[in-house]
Amino acid sequence: MNILIFGKDGQLGKAFKSLFDAATLPSDANILYVGRAECDLSNEDSLVTLLTQFSPSLIINASAYTAVDKAETESELVYAVNAIAPEIMARYVAKNGATLLHYSTDYVFDGQKYGFYLEGDICNPLGVYGKSKAAGEKAISQVFSAGSKGQYAIFRTSWVYGDGGNFIRTILRLAKERDELKIIQDQYGVPTSADWLARVSLSLAFNQQGDLISFPSGIYHAVPAGETTWHGLASLVVQTAIEAGAVLKAQPSAIKPILAVEYPLPAPRPMNSRMSTDKLQATLARSYNDFSPQSVFPQWEGMVREYVRKLVADGLV
Ligand SMILES: NC(=O)c1ccc[n+]([C@@H]2O[C@H](COP(=O)([O-])OP(=O)(O)OC[C@H]3O[C@@H](n4cnc5c(N)ncnc54)[C@H](OP(=O)(O)O)[C@@H]3O)[C@@H](O)[C@H]2O)c1
Repeated sequence: MNILIFGKDGQLGKAFKSLFDAATLPSDANILYVGRAECDLSNEDSLVTLLTQFSPSLIINASAYTAVDKAETESELVYAVNAIAPEIMARYVAKNGATLLHYSTDYVFDGQKYGFYLEGDICNPLGVYGKSKAAGEKAISQVFSAGSKGQYAIFRTSWVYGDGGNFIRTILRLAKERDELKIIQDQYGVPTSADWLARVSLSLAFNQQGDLISFPSGIYHAVPAGETTWHGLASLVVQTAIEAGAVLKAQPSAIKPILAVEYPLPAPRPMNSRMSTDKLQATLARSYNDFSPQSVFPQWEGMVREYVRKLVADGLV
């Protein structure tokens, strides 16, 4: 089985590499990891050539244009990577009866809903990044809407952290440099470990024997359990790092809450990013007799603590 993984130098792409390196699953896999150097996704010809030559039966698209604020001024490039490239991947998959695992974002929503977003809720992205990701979702589902071969899953996730730049690492860097941090307290979401996201994605697409299985194509929300704010996340990160031995200038009591309106950014963000994972849980429960929601969808705090402790232990704080 040929597996093609885009985004090899990103957080999620690296998480997939660690997972496949550590696992025997799938036993007959020939995996190709692709980054910008091997295939620039804004170059359609280069993408089509790669798909034709490698002929994957599974594509994992962990790449994306993710610079949310910069995206406001680079619309054409953003759409090329986040909407046109995924559509080309979907066309290949639909034509060849393959499988596509793709990723999207909570930023497809405007954040005005009270409570948890469902997969079918109306998208109303606020910025170029969110609009391009919503366009990518739509393009993929339209390719498959005509009853074509193949299958796809679009995992909508939020606040991802892994091996790369992310909010948690920024907080730790700032907490070393400054006595006090002002962090937004009125935007709600769920921090998501890239390692966890990679594992959950594969559990939809593979059985325990390591065979690719069929699943209902569509959008799935994929985040751990619970919810927090950026301020709640920053406070836990600083507290955990200090407990793990990091020397920081900013103490937990110096993480001050502010409102989003006090910290304007080029791209507006949704105030509420919470997403229900009931659909993914129900789908996994149908595949696994021993499915346990508490162990597959643990609370976000434990994974953040583990991540911060590892950063401290590795001398990265
Ligand atoms: N990060 C988050 O907080 C977050 C939140 C919600 C959803 N998501 C979604 O989750 C998925 C994974 O995100 P992530 O955090 O792993 O992103 P990431 O760390 O920014 O990685 C994205 C990768 O895509 C690559 N890429 C960008 N433009 C490219 C191009 N033109 N050609 C080839 N490769 C290109 C980047 O390459 P370079 O390394 O060369 O730049 C990078 O390695 C994405 O679909 C993202 O939209 C992320």
